[in-house]
Amino acid sequence: MTFHQLRLNARDVVSLVAEADAGLVGHAFFCPVSIECDTGLIEGMGLGELAVRPAWQSRGIGGRLTLSGFDILREAACPFVVVIGHAEYYPRLGFEPGSAHGLRCQWDGVPADNFMVKMLDPDRMRAVSGVATYRDV
Ligand SMILES: CC(C)(COP(=O)(O)OP(=O)(O)OC[C@H]1O[C@@H](n2cnc3c(N)ncnc32)[C@H](O)[C@@H]1OP(=O)(O)O)[C@@H](O)C(=O)NCCC(=O)NCCS
Repeated sequence: MTFHQLRLNARDVVSLVAEADAGLVGHAFFCPVSIECDTGLIEGMGLGELAVRPAWQSRGIGGRLTLSGFDILREAACPFVVVIGHAEYYPRLGFEPGSAHGLRCQWDGVPADNFMVKMLDPDRMRAVSGVATYRDV
C-alpha cells in the first residue's frame, strides 16, 4: 500500500497542512480505519501520513498538526486514531501501543511497537479489541 493509494481510496479524510512564507511545510492526513469486534464494527481513523519539511522540523509543527486533527475528529465523534510509525515519536502525542488495548495491525510485517493507537473516546473503546483495517486497501 502506498500513500497515493490510500488517498485515492479513502473519501472521508481529514487533510491538514501547515503553511509558511516558504509555502507548504507540513502535512497530516487521516483516513478511515475500522475494527471488527464482538460488539460490531467500530469506525475510527488512521494517521496515514505525517510529514514536515526538514528545515521546519522540531518546531512543534508535526505535533500541532496531529493534535489539531484529534480536535477535529473528536468533534466528529471519532473514537480512535491508529498510526504505524516511529515508536519513539508518537507516544509524545498520546499514542500508546495497540497491543496494550488488544488491537492489532492488519499487516503481519509491522512490528508491534510501531502500531499505536490514540483513544479519543476511551469509554466507547473500552470493550473494543481486534484487527484495525484501513478501508478499501
Ligand atoms: C516525524 C516528523 C513528522 C515530526 O515532525 P516535527 O514537526 O519535527 O515534530 P515536532 O516538532 O512536533 O516534535 C519534534 C520532536 O520530536 C522528535 N522526533 C522527531 N522525529 C522523531 C523520531 N523519528 N523518533 C523520535 N523522536 C523524534 C524530535 O527530536 C523533537 O524532539 P524535542 O522536542 O525533544 O527536540 C518529522 O520529523 C518528519 O517529517 N520526519 C520525516 C517523515 C516521517 O518520518 N514521518 C513519520 C512517518 S511514521
